[in-house]
Amino acid sequence: MEAHVFAALQERIGKRHLGKRLRIQVDYSAKMFIRGESLKRFHYENSNIFNTLVTLAFKATLSYARGAENALKYRVREHEFYLHDLPDAFDGLRILHLSDIHADGIDNEAEELCRLLATIKADLCVITGDYRFKTHSSYRKTIRVMKKILGAINVVMGNWGILGNHDFIETVFPLEEAGLAILLNQAVSLEKDGVRIWLAGVDDDHLYHCADLDRALRSVPPEETVILLSHTPDLYKKAALEEVDLFLCGHTHGGQICLPGGKPVITNASCPNRFCADRWEYMNMQGYTSYGTGSSGVPIRFNCQPDVAIHTLRRK
Ligand SMILES: [Fe+2]
Repeated sequence: MEAHVFAALQERIGKRHLGKRLRIQVDYSAKMFIRGESLKRFHYENSNIFNTLVTLAFKATLSYARGAENALKYRVREHEFYLHDLPDAFDGLRILHLSDIHADGIDNEAEELCRLLATIKADLCVITGDYRFKTHSSYRKTIRVMKKILGAINVVMGNWGILGNHDFIETVFPLEEAGLAILLNQAVSLEKDGVRIWLAGVDDDHLYHCADLDRALRSVPPEETVILLSHTPDLYKKAALEEVDLFLCGHTHGGQICLPGGKPVITNASCPNRFCADRWEYMNMQGYTSYGTGSSGVPIRFNCQPDVAIHTLRRK
């Protein structure tokens, strides 16, 4: 990392947060496994041997090409979320939610996805992390493809994102230059007709353990509506206790390769399966876990379509 990038990141997120991120990045890049790894904590996304075996298995059954086609068959899923005390001005707000784009792993530099996004009408866009295909290696192509994807999105209230476990901290500035503002344990207010709601975002919890909910919500008055972006659903309990109204996340890909009927084989999350895909509720909080817009590990999908979600807020 260049010295001026390091200095700018330190200024922005503080020495402790940056130090923790970088220590794990270095360790992880070297090992591609979490320290003290056991088979239980094995991460399939990073194992070349595992992914090669999966690829060979699907090719042997002649189903790989179909799985790769499935990975580009985007499904636009629309939902309405009724929120208590949502200001009238935000009733009907449309949020385009993408997640786990893994941009450099999409065929044809995401042309098909860009075509679809250009047709979508929404007020703001949120992306809940994982822009790169791998969890290590160069992110040059990732940024190039992300720039195209962001260029296809047409919203007036901005594109807002967080980092996932595939994203190094130094991708923050290139992503922002490409048109995606990154929330690193912080919140911004969205204002309309003299009233506001809040959009908060935490850094990755799954690999980097850098999600700081207290810090992210520090500036948010408890009585005001807040939407939280988290990469993984695993923070659902903490967020509900902090009275988050709507929790948007991803990471699980809804399983990506599922059994007939959509039951996931692996979710890569430690929360119950009901939080690992689609909409859910916990205490007074509502949530949505994206099925993932892209794919990782092996870029194929079965019984689990890639996700382009649109959430409409309604006043309850
Ligand atoms: Fe992830």
